[in-house]
Parts: sequence; C-alpha cells; structure tokens
Amino acid sequence: MVIVKIDRMAGTLGQTIVIEGWLYNVRSSGSITFLELRDGSGFVQAVVVKDSVSNEVWEATQKLTQESSLRVTGLVASHPKKENVFELQVTAIEIIAIAPEYPIALKDHGPEFLFDNRDLYLRAKTPWAVLRIRNQMFLSITNFFHEQGFIRFDTPILQPTSCEDTTQLFQLDYYGEPMYLTQSGQLYSEAGIMAFGKVYDFGPVFRAEKSKTRHHLSELWMMDAEMAFFDQAMNMDTQEKMIKRMVGDVLKNCVEELVILERDTTILQKLVNEPFVHLKHSEAKEILAADGFTIDKLDDMGTEEEIYLGNKYKLPIFIEDYPFAVKAFYMKSYVDEAGVKRAHNADLIAPEEGREIIGGSQREDNYDTLLNEILTRNYPRAEYEWYLNTRKFGSVPHSGFGIGLERTVRWITRAHHIRECIPFARMVNRNRP
Ligand code: 4AD
Ligand code: MG
Repeated sequence: MVIVKIDRMAGTLGQTIVIEGWLYNVRSSGSITFLELRDGSGFVQAVVVKDSVSNEVWEATQKLTQESSLRVTGLVASHPKKENVFELQVTAIEIIAIAPEYPIALKDHGPEFLFDNRDLYLRAKTPWAVLRIRNQMFLSITNFFHEQGFIRFDTPILQPTSCEDTTQLFQLDYYGEPMYLTQSGQLYSEAGIMAFGKVYDFGPVFRAEKSKTRHHLSELWMMDAEMAFFDQAMNMDTQEKMIKRMVGDVLKNCVEELVILERDTTILQKLVNEPFVHLKHSEAKEILAADGFTIDKLDDMGTEEEIYLGNKYKLPIFIEDYPFAVKAFYMKSYVDEAGVKRAHNADLIAPEEGREIIGGSQREDNYDTLLNEILTRNYPRAEYEWYLNTRKFGSVPHSGFGIGLERTVRWITRAHHIRECIPFARMVNRNRP
C-alpha cells in the first residue's frame, strides 16, 4: 500500500492509499463517522461507514480523540460536494497513539491562551496556513535573488556595533567584552558587495524595542540586499520586482492557505500588475495634513499615517526622501530647496494596514562625509574603520534594502498580530515556550 501525502491525493483518484497523520476533528451521524485528518501537507475528510468496515475498524474509530496519531487506509474518491477536493473512504485504521483531552479544542480561545500553548496551537489551521505562506515567501525571495545574480552572503549575528538605532540593542557578554545581537547585516553586506557585486543575507535580527504593538517583534527575520553601482531608483525597482514576484507566487501556490484565512486577494492581484505608488516624504505629509492629520513635517511617519496612506492608495507606496535626522547614519543625503537635509531613501509601506515592510536607501559613498556623520553621532570611530574601508578603497555608488519577513507575512496573510507570523514569537512580553 502506498503512503500518500494529502496534497498529492489528486493523482491517486480511485486508488487505495494510506495516510499517516493526526485526527484534527471528528463528526458523527450515527452509522457514519467523518474524520478530518491532517498530515502536515493538508487536511482531508475520511469517511467511515459502519456497515462497510469490520467491527474492529468501527470500534477503533469510536476511540479516536482529537490529535490522536494514526494510519488510515482507504479509497480515494471525489468529494461529493466540493470541486477538486478529495476524500478517503476508509477501509482500515491503525491507531499509533491516543491523545489525552487536547487543551486546544476547536472553539474560540483567547489569544494569550493560544500563544501560551503555541507548541500545540501550531497544529491548528490558521497557523498552518500562515506559516506555509511564510515558507513560500522565503522561497520566492531567495529564488528571485538567485535569478537576479545575487549571492547569499551570511552576515554575523554577533556584532560589536549597531547598524540602526543604538537604543535598540541587545547586549551580551562575549568573553568579557560587550557584544550585540545584530539589528541588520547591512554594514557587512556593504563590504560583501565590494567582493561580489550583489549580495543578500537572510537571518534573524534583534530589536530591543519595548513596543507592545501588533507590528513589533524582538526577534525577527530580515533579508538585507545590497548592490554595487545601484542608485536609489534602481534599488526601488528591485524591491518592486521582488514584491511582485513574491505576491504572484503566493497567489499561485498558496490557494488553499488563502482560502483558510478567508483572505480577500483583490489588492494582491491588482498590485502584481500595477506600478507601485511613489510619494516624497514632504508630499505624503502634505496629503495627510490636507486629509485632517496634525502632522510634523520633519518627523518619521507615524503608525496611523502609514495605515491611512495604505488605505488611500490600496497599493504599496514608496515614501521617499525622509528628513535625514530621523534616519540612519549611513544614508546618502542632500539638502532640499527649503534647506532640509534629506536622505536618498525610501520606506515601502504595504496597503491593508501592513505598514512599513521595507527600509532602504542609497548609501553615503564619500569617505569624509560618512566619517563626519559617525563622529557627529558619537559612534566609536575605531569600530567603524573596517566599514569606512569600503569608502577608502574603490568606493562606488551603492544601495540596498532590508525587508522584515514577519511584517510582510502579516500583510500578505492579514494576520491580526505579528506574533502569528513566526513559529515561536519573541516580544517584550512573551519569550516562552
Ligand atoms: O527599517 P529597518 O530598521 O532597516 C534596516 O535595518 C536596514 N539596515 C535594512 C537595509 O537597508 N539593509 O528594518 C527593515 C525592516 C523594516 O522595514 C520592518 O519590516 C522590519 O525590518 N522591522 C521589524 N519587524 C518587526 N519587528 C520589529 N521590531 C522590526 N524592526 C524592523
Ligand atoms: Mg525602517
């Protein structure tokens, strides 16, 4: 007998197969029992008809509890009501382990309870759908970069300096010396492009942000991309192509997951074919002011502002040229007509309340300007000498960006909270299990 994964059942119509998995749900109507099985690859209904199976099989069926593990043999048939859906007409059941009463019944539990039991909650349909979409997004991004001629360049997780805001560092003791968990691999990627041209990394980064929001994790996964001889326009173009590729792949390959999540895909389908919106930071603030917001023209974008713009345009929006003062030290800058020092940068804001999913910029490539900024911000110069070498020996115009995977998963799946978008979330108020 062949063991078949649920997502491969379509090719076995009319055959007798074995499914190895767990009992997700059970429904009985007297002489028929409907078992909902899951095996990791999907969910399927298995029908046990009392009159068509042996007494042993019928009795085994009645003993099964939620999350018991089992092997089920049966004939693959078309689902009587749903198109392109299959069911199993059971002939035999082998119980592997009967589970005691499962703490997560298939009724509504509060989110705190579900996340206190995340190890078990992972088995439910919503986490299954969200984390499979996350997997697809990871693959799409990785494939995209390989096709575009990037090489994967893994940057260190233990770093002696900060890349972004120095107030958000996790410090640890490294053989008696202070060391930090990485906030982004960017600075190392900049050294990487001087050797390889175009590089990306993909790994966990850490932000000691005490924000208890639905958008912040302390440990998140970031993909940093860096490109030699790219200006900011080429940088944004790469980001747009990457997002389109990723969304297109999810729409094509994650149909069942999107259905489970009841995701309205209108905007996702639209953005694959339409150019993204570009707004200067100053323009965005003016639009917000005209629409009734009390704004600060020289400040970062606020949460409500990002959400509002996303809802207004219903497409991803590049907000360009932020005031340099609210951005990181490494960005290339210019002074505008009004005398405001601005960065050659853009944050990409996702629609549908996705907020900022990408931060990117052209990098300052002048040695003296960059050194001056490091000194102005009181960063320890000695620790940045290696980084300054990228500007000392054959400096080139270059750009890059970082995409936060969970922020992006949250947008694509429309998960309520970012903690749903990573297997085991680490936040200011949660670090277990
Ligand atoms: O905008 P950020 O801070 O940019 C950088 O770290 C650059 N060095 C990246 C680069 O140019 N290579 O972070 C990039 C993205 C954000 O847009 C957001 O999606 C995500 O990382 N992010 C977070 N996601 C969840 N929780 C947090 N606390 C996050 N902080 C940043
Ligand atoms: Mg940012």
